[in-house]
Amino acid sequence: MSKRIDIDWAHLRYDYIKTDYRYISYYKDGKWDDGHLIEDDRISINVGSTALHYGQECFEGLKAYRTKKGDIQLFRPDENAKRFASSMAGLKMESFPEELFLNAVKEVTRRNKDLGFTPTYQTEWEEDQYLGGHAVYLRPFTYSESAIGLGLSYSPWVVVVATSVGSYFKPGSKAAVTTNKVRATKNGTGWIKCDANYVIPILAKKEAEANGYMEAIFLDAIEQKYVEEGSSCNIFFVMKDGTLVTPALGDTILPGITRKSVIQLAKDANINVVERKITIEEVLADAKESFVTGTAAGISHFSSITHQDKTVQFGSGEIGDVARTLLTELKGIQYGAIEDRHNWMFDID
Ligand SMILES: Cc1ncc(COP(=O)(O)O)c(C=O)c1O
Repeated sequence: MSKRIDIDWAHLRYDYIKTDYRYISYYKDGKWDDGHLIEDDRISINVGSTALHYGQECFEGLKAYRTKKGDIQLFRPDENAKRFASSMAGLKMESFPEELFLNAVKEVTRRNKDLGFTPTYQTEWEEDQYLGGHAVYLRPFTYSESAIGLGLSYSPWVVVVATSVGSYFKPGSKAAVTTNKVRATKNGTGWIKCDANYVIPILAKKEAEANGYMEAIFLDAIEQKYVEEGSSCNIFFVMKDGTLVTPALGDTILPGITRKSVIQLAKDANINVVERKITIEEVLADAKESFVTGTAAGISHFSSITHQDKTVQFGSGEIGDVARTLLTELKGIQYGAIEDRHNWMFDID
């Protein structure tokens, strides 16, 4: 019988902690099985798997929030289900059906919900001020059976893990720096949420942190001129004329669900949003705010951006007006503090 646990929410980082239940489903004999919950957090894997040897694996990330009413809701899991299916198709695996995905993430959230893994609403909001960043993070991922040769994954599995998380960026510096490392290039896998894309961002982020920055910003691989995204988040700029600019999607940028939501919220607030190419030189000359978006990152602002020997400072370094407005809207919807006017939140029951 599982015991309720008490999490120290104030000190919780973005790490894996063992929750009680996870889900597993196998693709066998031409179809996905119904999936089931498992209590063990170790899985037995075949030593030949292409996921192990070549990073031929993809994953998702979404969160469950405790809302003002006290219930638990998922933010846009239908979008994660679609992106997961498209990532799997991009890796030439049998896609996991959207309905199974939705059932799996709901079931894992439901079965862990009474055990103290989900923060209370009060940890996140006080007198309508957003304080938190705590949630249950769900990580669906694929695995595959043996194929030590350079071949496609076959007989894939899907596992859905839940963990309680705190804020993604470490407290301290809010400064960002460009990196000349290459995350993704034309005709590559940058648009897929696959393992293979994350080794370089980990190295770039660690290097940025070692030099006192919060985040590394990737430029395009070919000219090292156009801004693309952060290590695991999309990027936005508020220009001096008030326009909100974000790099247009393409082969090299992950289509973030937070990005899509933030664009909608900005339009709702009558902010002029433009998705286009933007050079780092233009950012240095004309941006007055910048922030990144993601399930993990939420909406996190930068105090400055450094590129080679130039730095642009954004105001006093505190969150700017546009980022604050969008953050309050987004978190308000996610935690049920304001009306979910776009029907983004899903019940788990
Ligand atoms: C490379 C990359 N870009 C952007 C994002 C943001 O995507 P989302 O808003 O769907 O979390 C992520 C987050 O998972 C990411 O890994």
